[in-house]
Amino acid sequence: MKKVIVVGATGLVGETIRNILEEREFPISEVKFLASSRSAGKEILFNGKSHVVKALSGDEFDGFDIAFFAAGSDVSKEYVPIAAEKGVRVVDNSSYFRMDENVPLVVPEVNPEAIKESDYIIANPNCSTIQCMAPLFQINKHYGIKRVVFSTYQSVSGSGVKGLKDLDEGIQEFYPFPIKGNVIPHIDSFLENGYTKEEMKMINETRKILGIDDLKVTATTVRVPVRFAHSVSINVETEKDFSVDDVKELMDCKLGMKLMDDVSNLVYPLPIFAEGKDEILIGRIRRDESLEHGLNLWSVADNIRKGAALNAVQIGELLLRS
Ligand SMILES: NC(=O)c1ccc[n+]([C@@H]2O[C@H](COP(=O)([O-])OP(=O)(O)OC[C@H]3O[C@@H](n4cnc5c(N)ncnc54)[C@H](OP(=O)(O)O)[C@@H]3O)[C@@H](O)[C@H]2O)c1
Repeated sequence: MKKVIVVGATGLVGETIRNILEEREFPISEVKFLASSRSAGKEILFNGKSHVVKALSGDEFDGFDIAFFAAGSDVSKEYVPIAAEKGVRVVDNSSYFRMDENVPLVVPEVNPEAIKESDYIIANPNCSTIQCMAPLFQINKHYGIKRVVFSTYQSVSGSGVKGLKDLDEGIQEFYPFPIKGNVIPHIDSFLENGYTKEEMKMINETRKILGIDDLKVTATTVRVPVRFAHSVSINVETEKDFSVDDVKELMDCKLGMKLMDDVSNLVYPLPIFAEGKDEILIGRIRRDESLEHGLNLWSVADNIRKGAALNAVQIGELLLRS
């Protein structure tokens, strides 16, 4: 049994972490929920008992075993090292530590071996990255990957409660343009190379998780007026030839994926099918006829569950073993 803390327990990801800890019967002897001072005093029902939310402070971590952080990069930057220093093993949802070479970046179905007993900080990857790792891992294992092109269609819940508010109320408080009835090719801030930070996260995190430092990857990340679940078009150039049927077989009920690929019956992944589900839905698998060994596929997953909270709790389950 473990003593567990959730930081950012009142947010979209934090709330889902709480639900998934309950659903998967994570072995918890004591639990503490932290948020900003705005939420201190709120009551949260967990495993049938009421818990009062406390304001985050460095003193709250003493004697705890595992902390799930879901309160943004600034909070992680300041408090994750404090928790780790106190012997708490941290699963961090923010991007702050992901590219730190001393911090494993983990998708449990793909690279669980990256976590060592001595690791006190484990990073949870970007939501769009996570849902592309299982299919790419399978393709790389069997055919070798030469190049990947990601194009994303990301839901507003990826921006937390503020994104949902802009869409639901048809306002423009958080995004630079109205999101209702629109498509915005801009997620996170722009960098000097013309990419956004979100695009560079997908590129760099893919290389780190698959363990291919020089993999050719590019990405365009786009916000769409969908509430939950991100969709990603993945174009892959492989080293070796493949058959489309064999690729479908590699995705069918493997590594957390569910194959939805029967276009003659209009079966393909949609955000409405992925919302609230754990599986990564894969479909539209077909040859890219512009390349000798090219493949197109379509991945849809709930960004709050597999893209964040579920992956984090699965990492927590790996920590129970060591
Ligand atoms: N949404 C996604 O799809 C997604 C996917 C992957 C990763 N993530 C990451 O997960 C984290 C949380 O995202 P979210 O979507 O859940 O955001 P959110 O809905 O806006 O929730 C933010 C949470 O952080 C807390 N918080 C904010 N400032 C704080 C502070 N100074 N001290 C303590 N707690 C503070 C908030 O508490 P109050 O209620 O008191 O304000 C709330 O519990 C972020 O790092 C995000 O990048 C999100």
